[in-house]
Amino acid sequence: MIHRFKVSDFRCIEAADVELSPDFNLIWGANASGKTSFLEALAYLGRGKSFRGAPTANLVRHGETEFVLFGETDDGGRMRRIGVRNSREGLEVRVDGNGEGGAAALAEALPLQVIDPEVHNLVAGGPELRRRFLDWVAFHVEHDHLLAWRRFRRALKQRNAALKAKAPAAAIRSWNAEFVDLAGRLDASRRRVLETALDVLVEYGAALLGTELDFDYVQGWNREKTLEQALEEGIERDLQQGVTQHGPHRADLKICYDERHARKLVSRGQQKLLASAMILAATETAQTALERPLLLLLDDPAAELDADSLDRLLTAVGGLGCQVIATSLTQAALETPPGTRVFHVEQGVFSPA
Ligand SMILES: Nc1ncnc2c1ncn2[C@@H]1O[C@H](COP(=O)(O)OP(=O)(O)O)[C@@H](O)[C@H]1O
Ligand SMILES: [Mg+2]
Repeated sequence: MIHRFKVSDFRCIEAADVELSPDFNLIWGANASGKTSFLEALAYLGRGKSFRGAPTANLVRHGETEFVLFGETDDGGRMRRIGVRNSREGLEVRVDGNGEGGAAALAEALPLQVIDPEVHNLVAGGPELRRRFLDWVAFHVEHDHLLAWRRFRRALKQRNAALKAKAPAAAIRSWNAEFVDLAGRLDASRRRVLETALDVLVEYGAALLGTELDFDYVQGWNREKTLEQALEEGIERDLQQGVTQHGPHRADLKICYDERHARKLVSRGQQKLLASAMILAATETAQTALERPLLLLLDDPAAELDADSLDRLLTAVGGLGCQVIATSLTQAALETPPGTRVFHVEQGVFSPA
């Protein structure tokens, strides 16, 4: 969690310096006042990138050359000072004065999740977001996941480069053993994590949607075959297309809702609730593993949810015991717990309300 957060020249925020509550914080203000900018800045500090996928250059306040973010965080006893500076020279990350760790060090110092108006894409969009979702949990729960993931990604890049260069099939084959080994570790780690999180996922699904959810890991190659076989059979096509068609980089998380495929759910509101249930379950699973409360950013949770659904979401969030920073258009639009720290924002300026 984060106690103090300082921003300079991030999107419309020229300067902000706020003391946050370890429990519930509410930031309210009119459209375009800077609510999303604030949460995006926080998420950037915890991830080294934008949660909206915005190019970093667009995040520097117009007319300026760099943005700087700073936070005092708490990882369950120890205070940490973390900072990010983005200038023409690129991105600079510091955790307790150390510039070595990069985005992974930020993610360790300030683990966070986001529920924003785009969250339904986790259910309705392509598989990449769902892989990232699983990998986020795995990163916090499984000790070696980041290493396995990085090594697999490197092997995939090399294999794809060889395919693009039309290397002889024999040369491609000679990579297969290592590729399969690294793929196997990534695959196993994701399966273990889904297994660990499954009960919690089902529990939040029931709490938010009143229905039974089911999740199935789809491994990214024909389940009747070993990856080795799939690679062997696919080698001609891989060479034609210049990319590896089979492997955990093509995996997905299939979500079943009342025995139907959840991507076909018609209502955006239901997709939002389902995706939110997944985010809350991921947060709880990581919290349990890390034994400390995480940070949850709720950008305009009232959007697209009826009063009942919003109520269920906020009740579930309250039960999680994490640090929350929520935004809304008016102070009355969200029913927040007693002791909530409230900020009002106007044209990028934050003041306690
Ligand atoms: N790089 C930037 N420099 C200055 N202003 C920006 C930049 N990027 C976005 N903005 C502006 O910031 C304002 C606030 O946006 P946002 O934080 O999304 O508002 P809210 O979430 O409160 O509706 C918008 O008017 C937007 O045009
Ligand atoms: Mg907004």
